[in-house]
Amino acid sequence: MSELRGTHVPVLLERCLSLIAPALESARRQGRTPTHVDATVGLGGHAEAVLEAHPDVVLVGLDRDTEALDRSGARLSRFAPRVHLVHTVYDGLPDALAALSISAVDSVLFDLGVSSLQLDEADRGFAYAQDAPLDMRMDQTTGRTAEEIVNSYAEPDLARVLRVYGEEKFASRVAAAIGRARSRTPITSSAFLAELVRDAIPAAARRTGGHPAKRTFQALRIEVNEELRVLEQALPAALDALTPGGRLVVMSYHSLEDRLAKRAIAPRVRSSGPVDLPVELPGTGPTFRLLTRGAESPDEAEVAANPRAASARLRATERLMDTRTDRERSDASPPSRPPRGAGADGATEGEAT
Ligand SMILES: C[S@@+](CC[C@H](N)C(=O)[O-])C[C@H]1O[C@@H](n2cnc3c(N)ncnc32)[C@H](O)[C@@H]1O
Repeated sequence: MSELRGTHVPVLLERCLSLIAPALESARRQGRTPTHVDATVGLGGHAEAVLEAHPDVVLVGLDRDTEALDRSGARLSRFAPRVHLVHTVYDGLPDALAALSISAVDSVLFDLGVSSLQLDEADRGFAYAQDAPLDMRMDQTTGRTAEEIVNSYAEPDLARVLRVYGEEKFASRVAAAIGRARSRTPITSSAFLAELVRDAIPAAARRTGGHPAKRTFQALRIEVNEELRVLEQALPAALDALTPGGRLVVMSYHSLEDRLAKRAIAPRVRSSGPVDLPVELPGTGPTFRLLTRGAESPDEAEVAANPRAASARLRATERLMDTRTDRERSDASPPSRPPRGAGADGATEGEAT
């Protein structure tokens, strides 16, 4: 067992804390108890840091992995009255909040992908480097395993999964090799699958891009857990749950996730009104603003200390306090009394009109 087993170094921790803090402060200014959602609480690293930095914050932590929830529950037990952990896929965020009678939240963090716990526990089947049954379910209480997918999908469907979710250039060759192998005997172990993939990939291509089975394992994991489908639903739900001034932070570990984060945020930070109008129409202005320019990456020092951070990409956005147009704002504000000495048009003496 490696020393690191079951530990998880939180990625971009300081950056996450600095992005979340103003949203929690905004809740305090409004006289509310700040509420933070960790949509992927995992082993509780980010959650613990938020709870430590903000002694008044209430934390809602979600995870689909019961083992991760057991671990984070123990780690966060000293903050118990302020912590609510919920076993759910993160697209269940609205239901989880409703069950806790929470109508809006101040910040939401998504730290996507697998935890070190999942990668290091040999029997979970996520790692191509360790021999284990081909499971790969983040929630081992439900759903199809990787073994079922590998042994039952038609070859063209397998090839599509590998091409789209793994960006595997040799998807058809790998799918054909899987087809041939399983016609002899069912594929049940991660080491056997990793070997099979390695042999299916041309020797010249094996020398670059890390372990040849990396992309196939990523693709199967995404398919098993329907990761992109649930993320596509969860991100808009998280944005909808934020109060004005509330902030969303998303950390992705591959381009497909990052693209979904970008797509969920983009329509909210731009106007939906006609482009050729000089003024914003009521209800068509942006409702969020970007807090990051493009996607941020960890610096070299963090990657050197925690190689898992290398592929992290962070995006963040804030719900605007006031999304009314200038016209709506001036219509709503009471007419101001002209200052003393002002003329009929409200300009003070000596002031250019
Ligand atoms: C990278 S880890 C989070 C680590 C955490 N930030 C920490 O500091 O310990 C990702 C976690 O998200 C969970 N997860 C992934 N997809 C999920 C989903 N669709 N719904 C709920 N939890 C999910 C995984 O089970 C895993 O525990």
